[in-house]
Amino acid sequence: MEKNAELVFIPSAGLGHVAPAIEFAKHILDAGECLCISFLIMKHPADFGVQRYLQSLSSHSRLRFVDVSIDPKTAAELLSNKDRFLYDFIDGHKHKVNEFVRNKLGSTRLAGFVLDMFCISMIDVANEFGVPSYIYFTSAAAFLALSLHFEALRNTSDYDYSESDEELPILGFKNPYPAKILPKPAKSVTPSSILYFDGIRRFKETKGIVINTFAELEPFALQSLSDSKIAPPIYPIHPVVNSDDSNKKQETESIIKWLDEQPNSSVVFLCFGTIGSFEPEQVKEIAVALERSGHRFLWSLRRPPPKGKIEMPSDYDNFEEVLTEGFLDRTKGIGKVVGWAPQVTVLSHSAVGAFVSHCGWNSTLEGVCCGVPIAAWPLYAEQQMNAFLLVKELGLAVEIWMDYVKDFEGKNPVVIVSAEEVEGAIQKLMENGEENELRKRVKEMQEKSRIAMEEGGSSYTSLRLLIEDFICNIS
Ligand SMILES: *[C@@H]1O[C@H](CO)[C@@H](O)[C@H](O)[C@H]1NC(C)=O
Ligand SMILES: *[C@@H]1O[C@H](CO)[C@@H](O)[C@H](O)[C@H]1NC(C)=O
Ligand SMILES: *[C@@H]1O[C@H](CO)[C@@H](O)[C@H](O)[C@H]1NC(C)=O
Repeated sequence: MEKNAELVFIPSAGLGHVAPAIEFAKHILDAGECLCISFLIMKHPADFGVQRYLQSLSSHSRLRFVDVSIDPKTAAELLSNKDRFLYDFIDGHKHKVNEFVRNKLGSTRLAGFVLDMFCISMIDVANEFGVPSYIYFTSAAAFLALSLHFEALRNTSDYDYSESDEELPILGFKNPYPAKILPKPAKSVTPSSILYFDGIRRFKETKGIVINTFAELEPFALQSLSDSKIAPPIYPIHPVVNSDDSNKKQETESIIKWLDEQPNSSVVFLCFGTIGSFEPEQVKEIAVALERSGHRFLWSLRRPPPKGKIEMPSDYDNFEEVLTEGFLDRTKGIGKVVGWAPQVTVLSHSAVGAFVSHCGWNSTLEGVCCGVPIAAWPLYAEQQMNAFLLVKELGLAVEIWMDYVKDFEGKNPVVIVSAEEVEGAIQKLMENGEENELRKRVKEMQEKSRIAMEEGGSSYTSLRLLIEDFICNIS
């Protein structure tokens, strides 16, 4: 180990991929002193805040960022084919990655390529240099199992579960899985599901899969994966918990000040992720639920984009535009409505006792690792599966509506979750205070997540095994 070795990291474009990959890269650098990382950045035509984020990072002597972007006009043209974009965009960057590795890393010993799950075709570039590839998988181990399950299934059947009410045995799940809440690619064979599973098939060509989960959280799914022998070695690395946006000091301070004044575990926190927002009819139902529940609350409320537009939500100028008359006055003192919220900071505060969440994997881990029980209200992507995992498999959440699917295109009539359903879930999380069974289970899991990170813990060990494997590649 006298000489340094280099890892090449390739995340997909977009902050949601880049940010956790950087956090993971830093963990590797902290634990493996002989490793350096070249982090390759492909600029998405819409950027999604990546450049600003990169500029906000402090520098690290063994981590460098390299721009491998292609010509923006070519990138923008690829956007016209929505199904293929994600994959064609990555393929379009292969020659740039090859050039960089050949010209800039020619004399360096390469320990591996670490690829985001959508950058799988970069395996071809790694192969040209005779370097092993690894996947960095940012969702649950159960989602990896489900994906591998359906990848195998499509060889033998033309499945179609789009209208099915069946419950299916699926790799990685103890309970029969309702077809109704399958993630889109697993529902039926479509051009985009074929692309997705073609990528999943290639996971077997890699030397390891790093998953953003921990052994004690998903023992069943991890054991099933290992027993099935259809996946390469799995490395459950501790949840990389994202730090909050440090550019929003003022908002953060005012929220903390308010939380400081509330009793322990008394506040229900409602937050629906970066693109979560609801129509006014739905906002009213949530407001009624909160008021009737009588509990304290902190509500991150965002304005949806215009109907039919797939855009980020924005902030309301005035919450009275959307809330029932008098709501803010009546709940003054027990409730606070905000736009953006510093999620990790809020979840870490002892005043917070429940989390109404869209169950993105990121938020799910943050809730669990902060010891806050969740009321599951999934919106899109694999969030219904995460909700099922939390509620039925792990017993760490209650359901608001497991099969709710947000219709971003606004083609169907708006489905409304009633105030009764929201209130019922909140009451279940808040009843019996510290004696609440669910809260106790989540607190136990929080403790396990902490121990997993400590010397000798499962995630600690897993990260060291991964680094040993990297080093093995160059010796
Ligand atoms: C996770 O959440 C943080 C903020 O809480 C956000 O910056 C990041 O993009 C999220 N990552 C994913 C994968 O959604
Ligand atoms: C499915 O078929 C492809 C070729 O058509 C093959 O490479 C792959 O190994 C098969 N997968 C399984 C799980 O049988
Ligand atoms: C509230 O929680 C904090 C942090 O866990 C703890 O130090 C404090 O003793 C608790 N207060 C009460 C009144 O239980």
